[in-house]
Amino acid sequence: MIELRSAAERDLDWIACLEAANFSGGCTREMLGKFILDSNRRVTVAMADGERAGYLIFSSVLDEGSVDSVCTAAGFRRRGAGDALMRAADAAAAELGLASVTLEVRASNAAAIALYGKHGYIYAGRRPGYYERPREDAVIMTKYFKEHGNDYTCS
Ligand SMILES: CC(C)(COP(=O)(O)OP(=O)(O)OC[C@H]1O[C@@H](n2cnc3c(N)ncnc32)[C@H](O)[C@@H]1OP(=O)(O)O)[C@@H](O)C(=O)NCCC(=O)NCCS
Repeated sequence: MIELRSAAERDLDWIACLEAANFSGGCTREMLGKFILDSNRRVTVAMADGERAGYLIFSSVLDEGSVDSVCTAAGFRRRGAGDALMRAADAAAAELGLASVTLEVRASNAAAIALYGKHGYIYAGRRPGYYERPREDAVIMTKYFKEHGNDYTCS
């Protein structure tokens, strides 16, 4: 069973370690320390049977949210932690009244793209060569929580 809680100081080494192992240019411990004190960010830890299984870094500005990072530790994958963390992103968006949540993902990251698609994120664009080590395009995906489009009518 997956349980979610807010990250605390004691989680920072573990999260920083996973960031370094999974993402080129991931967040450092110092950045994470600031994030857990930042009212515009939420860092959530998923616990499985009392052990840390994964985490989510979520931020928002005005009515736009961003999934900055989501990761499940290698030994806990395919057990529902990713789903639980994406539901936490939905809950944050609902609580904050956000219009949309956006994220970027490596174009080759089929597991993450499937996870985001399952949770209602749709293709919103591509940034060529966005990632380094190795260089790769970013796919941008967005989930809309409110109707979007042109609000203006021409008469
Ligand atoms: C992507 C990631 C977070 C998924 O976490 P997870 O805890 O294994 O995910 P879950 O067990 O909750 O699976 C949820 C859904 O994700 C998708 N998924 C997860 N792993 C998958 C895989 N290897 N292949 C295809 N789809 C996958 C599926 O849609 C799955 O739903 P289903 O079980 O109903 O098919 C995990 O693989 C990970 O941490 N990868 C490394 C870090 C990373 O790439 N993060 C995303 C950066 S943008």
